[in-house]
Amino acid sequence: MSGLDDVIAAETRLSEVDGANGRLVICGHSLDALAGRVSYEAVLALLLPGLLSANREVVRAELAQARLRAFREVSRLDADLVSLSLTEALRALMARLPDGEDKSVALLQIAAPAVFVPALVRAKRAQKPMPPHPGLSHAADMLAMLSGNVPSTEQVRALDTYLVTVSDHGLNASTFTARVVASTRAGYASAVLAALGALKGPLHGGAPGPVLDMLDAIGAPDKAAPWVDAALTRGERLMGFGHRIYRVRDPRADALKAALNQLGAAGGWDPNRLALAEAVEREALLALRAAKPDRVLETNVEFFTALLLEALGFPREAFTGVFAAGRVGGWIAHACEQVETGRLIRPQSRYVGPKAA
Ligand code: CMC
Repeated sequence: MSGLDDVIAAETRLSEVDGANGRLVICGHSLDALAGRVSYEAVLALLLPGLLSANREVVRAELAQARLRAFREVSRLDADLVSLSLTEALRALMARLPDGEDKSVALLQIAAPAVFVPALVRAKRAQKPMPPHPGLSHAADMLAMLSGNVPSTEQVRALDTYLVTVSDHGLNASTFTARVVASTRAGYASAVLAALGALKGPLHGGAPGPVLDMLDAIGAPDKAAPWVDAALTRGERLMGFGHRIYRVRDPRADALKAALNQLGAAGGWDPNRLALAEAVEREALLALRAAKPDRVLETNVEFFTALLLEALGFPREAFTGVFAAGRVGGWIAHACEQVETGRLIRPQSRYVGPKAA
């Protein structure tokens, strides 16, 4: 009851999470048919058919214009804002954007995290923010704004795979939050801002940074087993493992691992990192099976997210923001769907406090 497990709180045409079979379907397409095959813009067109054109080039051009609009906010970055954690600074920047329920608000919300995250990463390194390049795709531009260089085709494909893979995932905590806020007719910007707050927690979108902390603390494959055992003995949760819905391996983990392998040496990242991660994954799964024999705890999306985003040059404090840059498409689509129902979300609680005197 306390976690609303198994409660169906909305009907959606956006995505289906089949936890028993480890299958994710987004707008009638299995994740296998989308990840690594289509761009983020293509998935946005699927998620938002009432708002965006079915023509991907049109979506690409409109999103590019929205990135330019978002970049105007970057000129207002000040030292106080930059001194916040990256996710808090992102939240503060997103809070400055105008609210409403029209297409221009929706597009600005979708574009903004992809502009703000690279700008904040650079500002924290005392580097000048790079303006968006409207000729690039959304993923390519995000990477260009991060590094200042035009990314390789392999890097763009890897980031597209990531953004597509996390674009929507049923009624996860942040998406549910977005729907609740949208149902009050507060506007898409308010819905996204609230969703971002929900995403930030380590039990949801805050896990991939700590996954890298874990890999760093372990250091070498032969240290994985004792480290994992000690963490579980201390009662800690292993980041990147377990899921509320999946009772088998999270299909997104494999999509991202495949993207990492495809990126290969082209990304200029250290393949020993993957060898370490695989050893940690193996030992973690063995230890979790022994510690919780009655509960299936498998690798979730965040484990390989951490490696992929690191390989693409994002620092770990930016991982939650990059997650937001992908999930924001789903948040807006759910907000639109909720507004279309015309129904305020207002469940009941059962009072268990003291009786009135
Ligand atoms: N490491 C160790 N123990 C765990 C883990 C873990 N990663 N996940 C669950 N457990 C334990 C949990 O402590 C509980 O033990 P007990 O019954 O003794 O109290 C048991 O397994 C059952 O867990 P649960 O409370 O039913 O699991 P949940 O459905 O509430 O939790 C979860 C799902 C993702 C919050 C949890 O698995 C977790 O905390 N994982 C680590 C954080 C993480 O990887 N988060 C990213 C989630 S995936 C991204 C997304 O889609 O949002």
